[in-house]
Amino acid sequence: MSESFYITTPIYYVNDVPHIGHAYTTIAADVITRWHRQNGRDAYFLTGTDEHGQKVHEAATARGVSPQQHVDELCQPFQALWERLQITHDDFIRTTEKRHTTVVQAALQKLFDAGDIYAADYEGWYSKSEERFWTEKDLVDGKCPMSGNPVEWLKEKNYFFKMAKYADKLRDWIAEHPDFLRPQSRKNEVLGYLKKEVGDLCISRPKNRLPWGIPLPFDEDFVTYVWFDALLNYCTAIGYHPDGSTETFDTHWPATYHLVGKDILTTHSVYFSTMLFALGQRPAQCLYAHGWWTIEGQKMSKSVGNVVDPHLLIDCYGVDAVRYFLLREIPFGGDGDFSHSAFMTRYNADLANDLGNLAHRSLSMTEKWLGGAVPALDANTERDDALNALCAQVLETFRVEIEQLHFSVALESLWTLVRAGNKYIDDEEPWALNREGKTERLSGVMRRCLEVCRVAAILLAPFCPNKSRELADKLGVDALDVGTAGSLDGLTAGHAVPPGEPLFPRMQELPARIQETLQNLIPDAADKAAKKAEAKAKKHAKETPVSDETQEETPRISIDDFFKVELRAGKIQSAEAHPNADRLLVLKVDIGEETPRNIVAGIAAKYTPDELVGKQVVIVANLKPAKLRGVVSEGMLLACGGKAIEGLVTVDPECAPGAVVR
Ligand code: MSP
Repeated sequence: MSESFYITTPIYYVNDVPHIGHAYTTIAADVITRWHRQNGRDAYFLTGTDEHGQKVHEAATARGVSPQQHVDELCQPFQALWERLQITHDDFIRTTEKRHTTVVQAALQKLFDAGDIYAADYEGWYSKSEERFWTEKDLVDGKCPMSGNPVEWLKEKNYFFKMAKYADKLRDWIAEHPDFLRPQSRKNEVLGYLKKEVGDLCISRPKNRLPWGIPLPFDEDFVTYVWFDALLNYCTAIGYHPDGSTETFDTHWPATYHLVGKDILTTHSVYFSTMLFALGQRPAQCLYAHGWWTIEGQKMSKSVGNVVDPHLLIDCYGVDAVRYFLLREIPFGGDGDFSHSAFMTRYNADLANDLGNLAHRSLSMTEKWLGGAVPALDANTERDDALNALCAQVLETFRVEIEQLHFSVALESLWTLVRAGNKYIDDEEPWALNREGKTERLSGVMRRCLEVCRVAAILLAPFCPNKSRELADKLGVDALDVGTAGSLDGLTAGHAVPPGEPLFPRMQELPARIQETLQNLIPDAADKAAKKAEAKAKKHAKETPVSDETQEETPRISIDDFFKVELRAGKIQSAEAHPNADRLLVLKVDIGEETPRNIVAGIAAKYTPDELVGKQVVIVANLKPAKLRGVVSEGMLLACGGKAIEGLVTVDPECAPGAVVR
C-alpha cells in the first residue's frame, strides 16, 4: 500500500433520504480512515452527494422550487447524518459545485478534441427511473432489469464515449493488478461482463428532456449523462484538471480505495476505468464492492416501508454500537440481513457481556482489593506468557485484516483477546488470591486484565470512538497508540482507575421505539423478532455472568459481587426458642471460630430445637450483626423456600465447620 491513503464512498443521490445502506459504506470508509490516522498516516477521505438528474429536476418542479434550491436542502440530511455518525471525512463534494462542473466540462472537451467522444443516433429501451438505456437482451420481462419499471423505446442524437477502444486495456489492467477488483467474487462478475463485447457509452442526454445536468461544452443542447458527471467527482474533489492538476491530486491519485455497493460495480470498474485511461490517468488501487443489507429478511425499499433510519438506531442503541454492529455482523463484501433481534444479541454478547464485563470486573476488583490504582506486574507464569503471546498475535492479525477491509475478521481477532481476558480472570481466581492474601500475584493478574482492556480500547477506537475513549479514560490512557497494543505493559502503575458506570449496559428488551417501528412494519414479524430477542437475552443471561446493575426487576450481580458474600459451613451446637418471638429460634453455630456464632433464624415453624442440633448448615458469615427482637444475630442460615421455609440448606457432614462454601 502506498504512503498516501485516499478513500472514497459513492456520492449519494440527494433524492433519497439517507438510510442504513448509505451509512454502512460511509462508516466503513470512516473506520479504515481513522485506523490509518491512528497509525500516523496521512489519510484523506471523500464523500458527497450526486445532485443532477431527471428525478431531482422533477421533484424540484413538483415542489415549485429551483433545482439548485432543492439540492441545497437535500444534501443537508446527509451532512447531518455524517455528523451524528461521527464521520471524519476531509471533504464533501457536491456535483453542482463549480469546482466539479467546470472540470467535468474540461474533461469532456479534452476527450472530444481527442476524438474519444463522437455524436451518433441512439436507439434503445430507456428506463426513466434509472435514467439509462437498456438493450433488448438486458430487459427482464420487457421491463427495466434494475427497477422493474416500464421502459420506453427512444431514438435520438447523442454523444458517445469510445469505451470499446479501452476495453482491452482494462482487461489487461485487471490481469496485471490482482487487487484492483475485490472481493474476488465481484472481480469474477466484472470479468464476466468483459467477456462479452463492450460497446461505446452514451454520455449525453438532450437538454430538453433533462435540463438539470452539466452542459456539454461542445454542444449546449445536451447535458452530460449522470454517471460521466458523477464518477469524476473522485478526481475533481482533490484538484484534478485535464490541463494540470493540483499537488493534492498528484499526492492522492490514484485512490487507495473506492468503496461502492455491489449495485454500482460495473459503472465504477468499466465506465470509470476506461474514462480514466482516455484521460491518461490510472484507476484506483482497489475498487471494493461490498454486499447489500436486507431488512428483517426483506429487500429494503420505500414501498415496503422498511427503510431503516440510522437516526433511530443511534437514538436507541448509541452511535458506537451502530458502527460496531454494521461492520461486525457480516463480512465486508457479502450480503447480510439487518434485524433488531440480531442487533440486540450481538450487542449483549460482544459489547455488554464480553468487553463490558471484562472492563467492569477488572476495574471493580482493582478498586476493591488494590485501592483503585493500576497495580504492578509480577513475574510471568506460563498462563501470563500465553496471554502476552495472544496479545501480540492479535495486533498482527487485526492490522492485516483491517487494512484488507476485513472488518469483521479484525474484530473477531480482537475478541479472542477480550474473551481470553475473561477466561484469565476465571482461571486465576483473583478473589481467592485476595482472600489468601497473595497480593503480589493479585496485582499482577489484575494489571494484565487492565492491560487487555487498554489494548481493546486502542484497537476498537476506529469502530467505537466514544466508548473506546471512555474506556481509555477510565484506565488513565491518553494516546490510543497502536504501537503499544502488542504487549500487556502500557499502563502507568499507580494511576487511579475508578470503575465508574458500565461501558455497555445490558439490553433487556428491544427499545420501545424499535418495537413500535417493527409493529407498524410487519406486525407478526415484529412480535416474533421481539420475542426472539428477549428469549435470547434471557438464555444468555442464564449462561453467562453479567455485570449490569441497571436492571430493576431482577438485578443481576457480577461474579465478584457474588464473592462479596462469605459463605461457610457450620454445625448447629444448640437451639432454643427466642424469648420474644414465636417464629424465631436462637442457635449457636460452630463455624471454626474460637466461639460459636449466635444466630437468630426464622425457622421455628419448620423445625423444633431438638431436630436442629448436629445439622451441618450453610451460613452467611460476613453479615453485619443485627438485633432481632432484642437478641443479637451474627449471621444468617441459608434455607429454601419463600415466606414459608421448606428446609435448610445443609452440607456433607464431612465438611469441617468453617469450610468455605463457593
Ligand atoms: N449516485 C450514485 C453513485 C455515484 S458514485 C460516483 C448512487 N447513489 S445511491 O444513493 O443510490 O447510493 C448507492 C450506494 O448506497 C451503494 O453503492 C451502497 O454504497 C449504498 N447502499 C444503498 N443501499 C444499500 C443497501 N441496502 N445495503 C448496503 N449498501 C447499500 O448509486
